[in-house]
Amino acid sequence: MNELRFRTGGAADAAAVAELHGDSWRRHYRGAYADQFLDEESPEYLAAMWAGRLAAREGTHTTLAEYDGKLVGLAHLIIDADPKYGALVDNLHVRAPLKRQGIGTQLLARTANALQEVAPGSGLYLWVLEQNTAAQGFYEARGGIRGDRKDVPPPGGEPRRLNGQPACFRYYWPDPSLLA
Ligand SMILES: CC(C)(COP(=O)(O)OP(=O)(O)OC[C@H]1O[C@@H](n2cnc3c(N)ncnc32)[C@H](O)[C@@H]1OP(=O)(O)O)[C@@H](O)C(=O)NCCC(=O)NCCS
Repeated sequence: MNELRFRTGGAADAAAVAELHGDSWRRHYRGAYADQFLDEESPEYLAAMWAGRLAAREGTHTTLAEYDGKLVGLAHLIIDADPKYGALVDNLHVRAPLKRQGIGTQLLARTANALQEVAPGSGLYLWVLEQNTAAQGFYEARGGIRGDRKDVPPPGGEPRRLNGQPACFRYYWPDPSLLA
């Protein structure tokens, strides 16, 4: 059945989520993240990260998109991440061949809905790599406001996992009900 479905992620999804996340990183984060990290270390790093996250889900909400039963998108929300900006969308990725078909928009909308249920009135924000102008175009089309710029924190706190010191921008939605 050719059908797009959305559901909340859980512990059993960790391996599939890590695979999609890693594939998207290797396509879109190259340049900012070091090749060795992307190609050799990120599968293990992401597998451990998602196993931990999806086992202990308190204060978070992971929305998954599936097409024909296969994972095609993910959005991970961390509630109350920042006293000013509210909840953090820590990862938003759509399977590369399915980009620009509305899946990212629906993932953000469902994330905003989930946030409104547990933390009404909370704002929403995220960080996007400076080099990732496509995603910036998407966030601007979704009404996100561009905020401050900061250095990208290295994955796992290891500076060698970055190429030099890339930067990222905050995008934020003071009223995420606009996305819902
Ligand atoms: C960014 C991303 C999540 C957006 O999801 P998506 O499913 O591709 O986006 P949608 O189809 O819902 O919305 C696309 C709309 O955003 C806007 N947009 C503007 N520039 C855009 C661009 N360069 N790329 C994508 N969307 C863009 C347009 O309004 C576009 O609608 P259109 O295709 O009808 O013109 C997805 O493309 C993705 O996973 N990219 C790779 C990983 C990534 O960069 N993640 C974000 C990390 S911060």
